[in-house]
Amino acid sequence: MDMLANLATMANVARENAYVPYSNFRVGVALLTTEGKIYTGCNIENVSFGATCCAERVAIFKAISEGHKDFKAIFITSDEKDYIYPCGICLQVMVEMDIPVIYVTNGEGEIRMYKLEELITSPFKDF
Ligand code: THU
Repeated sequence: MDMLANLATMANVARENAYVPYSNFRVGVALLTTEGKIYTGCNIENVSFGATCCAERVAIFKAISEGHKDFKAIFITSDEKDYIYPCGICLQVMVEMDIPVIYVTNGEGEIRMYKLEELITSPFKDF
């Protein structure tokens, strides 16, 4: 199986674990490191809505917590018919970690590829 199909499968499997009692909107992610390791994530909600964590950050924080900070790409999938795009907070985290490529899918399994700078044109980078 090629790497993109592998990422899609792993993101879809991770989506099954989404904890979404409030939105019922499941998101799954597969994050590829430069070493070829894949970390997955799903969204995890909380009754205190602000405590919810998106699938993207779950995967990124899992990887960082295990010592992986160099990434090739992130693959994002949801249950929706339309393409799923990462939120602004997750894009800011992707900027911090320099994740160069973002793949998004729709309900048909079609895939679009973006460079990070296409989705966040003017990130906060310095202070
Ligand atoms: N969510 C993600 O996990 N990733 C995204 O890219 C967009 C939004 C989650 C957060 C929340 O659990 C639900 O989707 C609805 O916002």
